[in-house]
Amino acid sequence: MNRIALVLGSGLGPLADAVAVEEAVGFADVELPGSSVPGHAGRFLIGTLGSAPVIVMQGRVHLYEGHDAAAVTAGVRWMAAQGADRLILTNAAGTLNPAFEPGSWMVLSDHLNLTGTSPLHGPEFIDMSTAYDPEWRAVFRAAASETGTVLHEGVYAGLRGPQYETPAEIRMLRTIGADAVGMSTVLETIQGRALGMKVAAFSCLTNWAAGITPAALDHQEVLATGKSAADTMVRLLRRVISL
Ligand code: HPA
Repeated sequence: MNRIALVLGSGLGPLADAVAVEEAVGFADVELPGSSVPGHAGRFLIGTLGSAPVIVMQGRVHLYEGHDAAAVTAGVRWMAAQGADRLILTNAAGTLNPAFEPGSWMVLSDHLNLTGTSPLHGPEFIDMSTAYDPEWRAVFRAAASETGTVLHEGVYAGLRGPQYETPAEIRMLRTIGADAVGMSTVLETIQGRALGMKVAAFSCLTNWAAGITPAALDHQEVLATGKSAADTMVRLLRRVISL
């Protein structure tokens, strides 16, 4: 049976606790660049979530650590090489949509790749018109409504970071159609689609984006909100992928 690859975002490490682990593989063991961000561990956990075989990538690699697009997406290529044909990406993101409150989750309907880069080179003109699988999204929405879980759906803007955005940048992102903003996911989606993987992605909305409220952004707060929201996503994933 083909595995589901699951990438954990900032503060979402507790999602891994739901996995019955058979084997742990450090990034260094397979010659992948490591992650230096606090709250990111840098390993793959191979096992099962409910009845579904999974590979969990704990501690993704970011552009803002100085890695290039190839390094950022190396984990996705490795998991695909291990037989993963479906990719679930999670991230922590700021919310720009006044109707999407911090502490809730958003399933990505689409993205804006504002990193200025891509993991692809040469004539790889892949179709991105349904990058986030519409049918799979519908399954997650149905599971959310059956379990009384709030699951918004919207557009994620992926920026390089590491600084959070200015209020002017957030106004620009609202104008161009973003609902959430973060520093990951978009390159992994592009890589996954190029490899023919089915992709779904979820943003844990950890904070109002800059300027939406007067409060300053705080990385510790982002991590803490992610931790408490992780349980919700575990319930949703169990219901959808361990059928
Ligand atoms: N902006 C960018 N990345 C983020 C944010 C944010 O507000 N929150 C969590 N990751």
